[in-house]
Amino acid sequence: MDEAAGPVVRAFYSAATGSWQYVVHDPATKQAATIDVVWNYDPVHGRTSTESADEVLAYVEAEGLDVVWLLDTHPHADHFIAAPYLQSKLGAPRGIGAMVTGVQELWRAIYDLGDDFPIDGSQWDRLFADGDGFALGELTGRVLFTPGHTLASISYVIGDAAFVADTLMMPDSGTSRADFPGGDAGRLYDSIQRLLRLPDDTRVFVGHDYAPNGREPRCESTVKVQRESNLHLEGGVSKADYVRLRTARDATLTLPERMLAALQVNIRGGRKPPPHRNGTSYLRIPLDRF
Ligand SMILES: [Fe+2]
Repeated sequence: MDEAAGPVVRAFYSAATGSWQYVVHDPATKQAATIDVVWNYDPVHGRTSTESADEVLAYVEAEGLDVVWLLDTHPHADHFIAAPYLQSKLGAPRGIGAMVTGVQELWRAIYDLGDDFPIDGSQWDRLFADGDGFALGELTGRVLFTPGHTLASISYVIGDAAFVADTLMMPDSGTSRADFPGGDAGRLYDSIQRLLRLPDDTRVFVGHDYAPNGREPRCESTVKVQRESNLHLEGGVSKADYVRLRTARDATLTLPERMLAALQVNIRGGRKPPPHRNGTSYLRIPLDRF
């Protein structure tokens, strides 16, 4: 593999939500993208804070990187999107998958936000469709539509690095859940099969890790390792068997603690709802809906 294929990847872990965030850059030009950076939210106090994004900003500054993209893989259910905050500091455009409009439509109804809430993705600067490309210095980023965990999930393949978010998890953890509104275990299976057709030595960077069995949090594997040892894919599991396994497992999981808060911020592209007359923003929780 030629040198230009290998971007530098730095991962940042948010322990409160088990989230991995990334800064990926082209070593030749120092052009960089951030992926899935967390805007921290403390549900007990209803308080946001920026320590995760500030850690990313400090790294960008220390390395002298030129951030040209602020990317998210999907509207997350467990944390707020930090891209608007990063944009206020770095100025780069914010991107997400084009099908985010479907997620907006779904959750607009759940939160009863009314017809004037825009569901056209206009909260972002760029909506990526399957196959879209973008430049990162001398490297090319490519977008793969990989729905299933959400109906809008995309993966970013930059050189030999694939940022697959909530599709594959680390091999000892299996795969991501598919039971949120708009999720679909069968589509997730198809997306994962697509990712497994990337070159064997592609580095795979996951969106979450919950550090099972007391091991350290980990974020990186390869396509080959995933194909050969992922807990949920062993023996080249059939789609029907996978859907059965995934559905049974999802039935045992509780919703993420921050989901009902996170989606109403994230369908706004990572912004609080408009403030009330007293200047405070409020989140809305649907009762007896989930
Ligand atoms: Fe997610």
